[in-house]
Amino acid sequence: MHDRQLTAIAGAVGTPTYVYDAALIRERYAALVGALAPRFPCQVFYAVKANSNLAVLALLRGLGAGADIVSGGELFRARRAGFAPGQIVFSGVGKTDDELAAALEAPIRQINLESEAEADRVLALAARAGQVAAVGIRVNPEVRAETHPYTRTAEKGMKFGLPLDRVVPLAVRLARSGHARVTALAMHLGSQIVTGAPFRTGAERLADVVTSVRAAGVDTLAAISVGGGLGIAYAADDPALDPGEFAEAVAPLAAATGLPLIVEPGRYLVGPAGVLLTRVLYRKHAGGRDIVITDAGMNDLLRPALYQAHHPVRLVGGPDDARAEVVDVVGPICESGDFLARDQSVAGAERGALLAIGGAGAYGFSMSSQYNSRRRAAEVVVDGDRWGVARAREQLEDLIQGEVTEPRWVSQP
Ligand code: LLP
Repeated sequence: MHDRQLTAIAGAVGTPTYVYDAALIRERYAALVGALAPRFPCQVFYAVKANSNLAVLALLRGLGAGADIVSGGELFRARRAGFAPGQIVFSGVGKTDDELAAALEAPIRQINLESEAEADRVLALAARAGQVAAVGIRVNPEVRAETHPYTRTAEKGMKFGLPLDRVVPLAVRLARSGHARVTALAMHLGSQIVTGAPFRTGAERLADVVTSVRAAGVDTLAAISVGGGLGIAYAADDPALDPGEFAEAVAPLAAATGLPLIVEPGRYLVGPAGVLLTRVLYRKHAGGRDIVITDAGMNDLLRPALYQAHHPVRLVGGPDDARAEVVDVVGPICESGDFLARDQSVAGAERGALLAIGGAGAYGFSMSSQYNSRRRAAEVVVDGDRWGVARAREQLEDLIQGEVTEPRWVSQP
């Protein structure tokens, strides 16, 4: 993906536009599998939420990945992208009856249960359908990962997973029910984790739980999921989690249990492979700050506003002698939190300049919205020397789809 292509894409498709590099996604996938597979049997289930564009899903499916989904919508997308039901696992704390029924009907490979109450719903639905549901139990191993508080998921008292001491009773109850088969235990510690240590601790705790579950007579486990969360570098000097270090941290779990490991990476596979192209609309100077106003805003890329996340901004296509200046890059939205970068050194950010915001392949478009009635951005995939639109820019009509000025009133005195 080079500047001439990005310039051509912006010219043809307009801005803001997400651009994904297919070659880099392939490279990341190969690097991950290359680090894991020699050490233990493993299966990669891509976390669809990171980037759920059909072209990206189809690409990853073609490489051999399964899909880790968290909603009926993601099930729909995964099936549309060609994933077989048996290549899909379903995580999430709040699955509705409709979503569970759709998963059972498919039937997908495994529903990861996050509470006893959810287990009751699955048992009821499976009984009604005369099925034996394949389920995993998500465990909260109570491991703190040093990441943004909003992307930690495995601390005591969090909504995710089952506390350690409640796993065995639930596994036994499910196994005896006649309507569920416990095929996996799972954990997910959080996202953007850059050291192996939390994975090592989590894996140790999970290995102990496997021993207890088996000792209680549940012998149907076929895999253990160690979740996703592998952190990437957003700036040149940022730490990132090397897949080899990750593999070493979780390998003992595979050895201790004799089970294959499921890994659910999202960001690692697609984060570095995406940029958000945006054009500079205006530049202004206020209170000693240089403010660059772009046609992309927090509705397009929420991460800086929500997590104070850093994304590198750079000028696309010169001029080569453009002077770098420290600027704030902000969007047009009526919120002070609408910034894409703060105090960042960017060259040539003058009106009309094309900027690329890096590290935008994961949780970029997928977290975007129509706030301020802004049409969602286009998505483009580059593959070698060709590129193609993978999602057209929304039209104005898309903004009001399903809306009416006069509701069809229903009388309910
Ligand atoms: N598995 C489960 C059960 C998850 O909840 C997640 C992400 C993943 C796997 C994939 O995590 P990853 O490998 O991408 O770190 N919006 C935030 C990230 C939220 C992640 C939510 N769960 C961000 O933009 O940083």
